[in-house]
Amino acid sequence: MKLAISGKGGVGKTTLAALLAQVYADQGRDVLAADGDPSPCLAGALGFPDDLRAKLSPIAEMDALIEERTGAKPGASGGFFTINPRVDDIPERFSVLNRGVRLLEMGAVDLGGSGCICPESAMLKTLFTHLLFRDDEVLILDMYAGVEHLGRATVDFVDAMIIVVEPTRRSLGTAVQIKKLAEDIGVKRFWLVGNKVMNDDEAAFLRNESPRIPVLGLLPSDTAVQEADRLGIAVYDHVPALRQAAEKMAAELVTVIEGV
Ligand SMILES: Nc1ncnc2c1ncn2[C@@H]1O[C@H](COP(=O)(O)OP(=O)(O)O)[C@@H](O)[C@H]1O
Ligand SMILES: [Mg+2]
Repeated sequence: MKLAISGKGGVGKTTLAALLAQVYADQGRDVLAADGDPSPCLAGALGFPDDLRAKLSPIAEMDALIEERTGAKPGASGGFFTINPRVDDIPERFSVLNRGVRLLEMGAVDLGGSGCICPESAMLKTLFTHLLFRDDEVLILDMYAGVEHLGRATVDFVDAMIIVVEPTRRSLGTAVQIKKLAEDIGVKRFWLVGNKVMNDDEAAFLRNESPRIPVLGLLPSDTAVQEADRLGIAVYDHVPALRQAAEKMAAELVTVIEGV
């Protein structure tokens, strides 16, 4: 099951990615979680202990590795480099495993629109593609910047994109834009997750006004989420209401995607 989690900054992508990853891991599934944020924070949301977090660093910042694999120094312009470097050993070598969740930090690269091709972007794009081809039981991509840059061939392997929204009209408008961009490169199945829901009115708003994207579930607003962050522990362990909501979503995803 390959899930891409998308949405505007601050809506709760990382919180949801961490919750779903731990739910599946606790069911005994192999989970690979990829943090696509230039300032990675999924390790924190998962409550990874400091000694493990110290072992992580974003692939995009591994200049020596990128040069070794692509044949060119990151940041160099001109010159030749391979656009399909070897990456198959990277998930095992550079990820860390905690409570059944294997975490890999991708890091920041301008993979974006301008057709930019540089050693770092070749490396990351090849790595994303590789992750989608691997046969991990569950792959969760915490997508900071959308999936547009991944390209059609890659995205065929995404089973579903989950778009996280807050209960505002503006947030729903953003969801429509995200969906459109993802559809353009071939993503076929979308779900909406409403986060930071304060009351029944907000819940009803999301369910009634969803822009024809099925609602996978809603997560309540809870100050314990920020508290977990301050304490350095996982929302999964600290906020039962969110864990339970995520468990329902995880079950629904299994039913629809795996047909169980
Ligand atoms: N359900 C919630 N209730 C209260 N605060 C939340 C909730 N979900 C997320 N937050 C807070 O909102 C901020 C952004 O969440 P995060 O998951 O990092 O978003 P994103 O990855 O989309 O940028 C964090 O400070 C987080 O603690
Ligand atoms: Mg995030």
